[in-house]
Amino acid sequence: MVDLLHHGDREVGAGLVDLAVNVRLAEPPEWLLRELRDCVAGLAAYPDVRGATEALAARHGRDPADVLPTAGAAEAFTLLASAWRPRCAVVVHPQFTEPEAALRAAGRPVTRVLLSAADGFVLDPDRVPEEADLVVVGNPTNPTSVLHPAQTLRGLCRPGRLVVVDEAFLDAVPGEPESLAAHRIPGVLVIRSLTKTWGIAGLRAGYVLAEPEVVERLRAVQPPWSVSTPAAVAMVACSRPEAVAEADSLARAADRDRGRLVAGLRSLGVEVAGVPRAPFVLVRITGGHRVRLALREAGYAVRRGDTFPGLGPDWLRIAVRADMHGFLAALGQVLAS
Ligand SMILES: Cc1ncc(COP(=O)(O)O)c(C=O)c1O
Repeated sequence: MVDLLHHGDREVGAGLVDLAVNVRLAEPPEWLLRELRDCVAGLAAYPDVRGATEALAARHGRDPADVLPTAGAAEAFTLLASAWRPRCAVVVHPQFTEPEAALRAAGRPVTRVLLSAADGFVLDPDRVPEEADLVVVGNPTNPTSVLHPAQTLRGLCRPGRLVVVDEAFLDAVPGEPESLAAHRIPGVLVIRSLTKTWGIAGLRAGYVLAEPEVVERLRAVQPPWSVSTPAAVAMVACSRPEAVAEADSLARAADRDRGRLVAGLRSLGVEVAGVPRAPFVLVRITGGHRVRLALREAGYAVRRGDTFPGLGPDWLRIAVRADMHGFLAALGQVLAS
């Protein structure tokens, strides 16, 4: 049985270099910290997300009626599981386990479609059963780092089906290619996160982009004041053109960092899955469990892969950081021992 509630944050520990959690910044940038500090004096008031809704809509060129701010991308899955009663919910795996966990917790049956390592974890739409009335897919997918073509995702649409695309990491891909966020597409719901790029996982800031009827159904089951005042402030701040441009340059840096990491891994003879496009890579190493524990001994926490449906103990996920020399040296030693 896979532990769907296991997440990378459980794998970090005192003194370990954190390559297990995909939050890119060690702390929020100074301009964001300043705005967050400034809003604290206003905490006596209940939160009002109207400004955040408008800012997010403007950032994506959408109507505010298409936007629902949420307490992190993760809340969107819980809202969806509560508001929808799919006859056949399909979750495309391996992927972030929260969508399936939320559906199961709400008593919704889930069918898994497992993509294969041999195919580089590329999405084959023919694998999704015709009867699926809810399909959840990550783009780029955590943990495979694969970016699926927008056209393939659009091809999943059917009358009476909701296609949920988790774009939690798309702002970490330069230019946000293959995103479905910019247009109101019937039957498509896009989920975004601000927590990874901006180092605000503790703040819980994400949002849904969908048709107004879909947004309304989710809003109807959202707990009141679910999005806090600081989260709403972060949504406005991170939607400004300068912030979006900064996210893009962070994404470009991550792209270069990932290129160096992948080259280093390959030079150690490590198999890197698929064509990674996100700021993390999935690798397969025989004896991965032993390697992961030995890396911890050496001071590095990487994310175990065996809690993702479709992967086993030989799979490890490694977050991309600017300087991976120490990690690659430690891994080389572990592999040689
Ligand atoms: C693919 C994916 N989607 C969504 C989330 C949740 O993001 P948030 O912190 O915005 O709730 C995560 C967190 O790890 C994730 O990996």
